[in-house]
Amino acid sequence: MAPTAAAMVMNRAPKTILITGVSRGLGRALAVEMAKKGHTIIGCSRAQDRLNSLLDELSSSQPPQDNNKNNPSSSKHLLMKVDVRSDSSVQVLARAVMETKGIPDIIVNNAGTINRNNKLWEVPVEEFDTVIDTNIKGIANILRHFLPLMLGRKQGIIVNMSSGWGRSAAAQVAPYCASKWAIEGMSRSVAKELPDGMAIVSLSPGVVNTDMLASCFGSSASLYRTPEAWAPKAATLILNLSVADNGASLTV
Ligand SMILES: NC(=O)c1ccc[n+]([C@@H]2O[C@H](COP(=O)([O-])OP(=O)(O)OC[C@H]3O[C@@H](n4cnc5c(N)ncnc54)[C@H](OP(=O)(O)O)[C@@H]3O)[C@@H](O)[C@H]2O)c1
Repeated sequence: MAPTAAAMVMNRAPKTILITGVSRGLGRALAVEMAKKGHTIIGCSRAQDRLNSLLDELSSSQPPQDNNKNNPSSSKHLLMKVDVRSDSSVQVLARAVMETKGIPDIIVNNAGTINRNNKLWEVPVEEFDTVIDTNIKGIANILRHFLPLMLGRKQGIIVNMSSGWGRSAAAQVAPYCASKWAIEGMSRSVAKELPDGMAIVSLSPGVVNTDMLASCFGSSASLYRTPEAWAPKAATLILNLSVADNGASLTV
């Protein structure tokens, strides 16, 4: 369905966008793209050095009107070292966001990990747990702390990064497939719990050349599009989401 003129004006209004897993890959490219469009980024990952370099890039790419002349080094964005597997770390993030930025308009649950290619019965216990803890419980942790804030004003869009492997099967990546199928089910279930005015979707990003793709595709990952080529399309899709999309399984 084509967005209405009113919806397109709304989509251009600056938004506060929380993206998990912004240190590299799709999350980083999406953060840069959204910042270029004038939106405020709240981001997290576990790698402080990469967050520092991203903050420099976001600040230098923000539109001139957003630059603070009194303090050129200040940024309107907030990047925090947070492991989404830790409920208490996510709680600290939610507190910091409320103190400094207010309730996000959009949340993109992007942080994710994949098992090394292996048959299910050869995947080490810890590795299986890491995939589940990051990809499923990580999203649940974010929703636990941020959804109640959004519910208060019955407004907000949540995007849960799924995968083609959340809708199909593949050998060697069963833990990852299981986690992404879970995200599809969790998103569609939560969609039934949200009030009017809010939406949650699962989003398959297609196939993009990132560290994760290199892990499962090897050197042929370089045949696929870059995160920077992917991000403008993803940003447009995400900014155009509306309550009519609640419960949808979408693809960039
Ligand atoms: N690339 C593709 O073709 C493709 C296809 C389908 C779906 N996806 C999905 O798209 C999303 C992004 O994938 P990608 O390809 O960009 O992967 P990537 O290059 O491996 O990046 C993953 C990101 O997630 C962060 N992350 C991982 N574990 C985390 C944790 N415990 N806490 C916080 N952040 C964490 C990483 O940051 P740190 O390591 O610094 O914490 C990194 O920023 C994932 O959900 C993935 O499943 C990707």
